[in-house]
Amino acid sequence: MTAVVIVGVQWGDEGKGKVVDYLSERAEIVVRFQGGHNAGHTVVVGGKKTALSLLPSGILREKTRCLLASGVVLDPGVLFAEMERLGAAGVNVTPKRLGIAAEAQLILPYHSVLDVERERALSDAKIGTTGKGIGPAYEDAASRIGIRVADLYVPARLKTMLERNVAMKNAMFAHVWKCEQKFCAKDLFEKLSAFAERLKPFVTDVSSEVTQAIKQKKFVMFEGAQGTMLDANHGTYPFVTSSNTIAAQACVSAGVGPQVVDSVLGICKAYCTRVGGGPFPTEETGEIGDYIRKVGAEFGTVTGRPRRCGWFDAVLARRAGQLNGVDAVFITKLDVLSGLKTIRVGTEYQGTNSVVLSELESVSVEYKDFPGWDEDITGVRSFKDLPQTAQNYLSELEKIIDCPIAGFSVGPDREQTIIMREQFKSLLAAE
Ligand code: IMP
Repeated sequence: MTAVVIVGVQWGDEGKGKVVDYLSERAEIVVRFQGGHNAGHTVVVGGKKTALSLLPSGILREKTRCLLASGVVLDPGVLFAEMERLGAAGVNVTPKRLGIAAEAQLILPYHSVLDVERERALSDAKIGTTGKGIGPAYEDAASRIGIRVADLYVPARLKTMLERNVAMKNAMFAHVWKCEQKFCAKDLFEKLSAFAERLKPFVTDVSSEVTQAIKQKKFVMFEGAQGTMLDANHGTYPFVTSSNTIAAQACVSAGVGPQVVDSVLGICKAYCTRVGGGPFPTEETGEIGDYIRKVGAEFGTVTGRPRRCGWFDAVLARRAGQLNGVDAVFITKLDVLSGLKTIRVGTEYQGTNSVVLSELESVSVEYKDFPGWDEDITGVRSFKDLPQTAQNYLSELEKIIDCPIAGFSVGPDREQTIIMREQFKSLLAAE
């Protein structure tokens, strides 16, 4: 086993960071392949919690090399702030530990203003973005006016690009969005020139590094951000993020052929959450939703927004299995369901199997109900030590989603991660 892709199979926040952290002990390379600082996970360093949004959790391991691939959108200020936070906690992010693709696109200050202004204009139809400028940065990339890391090292080109882009954005702010914002190309050029110096030792050729590592049979882990249902092509469009979050994007972004991937591990919670707008067929807006939010501490790492909560949606999980080619899933936060009398799983959508947005908005869900358990399961360390009802829940879930469950977690600590199926020991332990 040399290359594993880790993806979220719901709407993000599935706990991918925890699984990546668990696996990164053996991973020699962790490649983050899309998104930007819209993602977020909390890591604990020396008992102190640190929020990361751009750097993969593998960054905590001295021997693991982390790479930000071409499909990532990067705000240099955010990157350095994260590095400084980690530095203060005793983790020195050196060029040995982190490499950044020369092709990665930059998020510039006008992108977040555009993001916020467009959301304002969309009013009731707003996406509920993180407001970090992710969409506008990807738009510039697709429009071929984006500024990439490599451009930082060609000052004349950078200057021309900034002058052209700033003129366009300022005109949009004044005439389309009718807002006061105005940017100065010269100021941005100076800021970016200072960043360029600091960034230079980190810039690398991700495609060559990953290709080399695969040839040497090193264990490479590709880490996705957000989740399958936020994928720009296959998610609940338009309520999605602006990148491809599914497993195939790992190869596109890293610049390697699809045959390098040995397996795909899908991460999902034992229930569902979503932040922002858009359909959520199994959402619980009453007491159950409040209970899950409280017990599961379901508030955004990046924005602090309360997450919408609901039951596990097996229709979407099956779809995500298909879209990613998932070999096995890992279930996080099983402990959050303890204390619920009945646990529901959405098994089918009445009258349709379609997951296109227009149908999802009004779909009726068929549920299968499972008896819950009262026991505190946070101390459980093997499948057979789970209460019988919890064992049944996982075993039935496996059948309903038609995909093996490789393991589950019963709390945030590494010891609370349990491998459930012998055949996935090698996947999860990457031996
Ligand atoms: P954007 O990625 O900021 O453009 O936001 C688009 C949609 O993706 C919004 O619904 C966000 O709430 C959602 N989103 C973006 N990043 C994450 C994440 O890391 N977890 C969960 N939802 C996210």
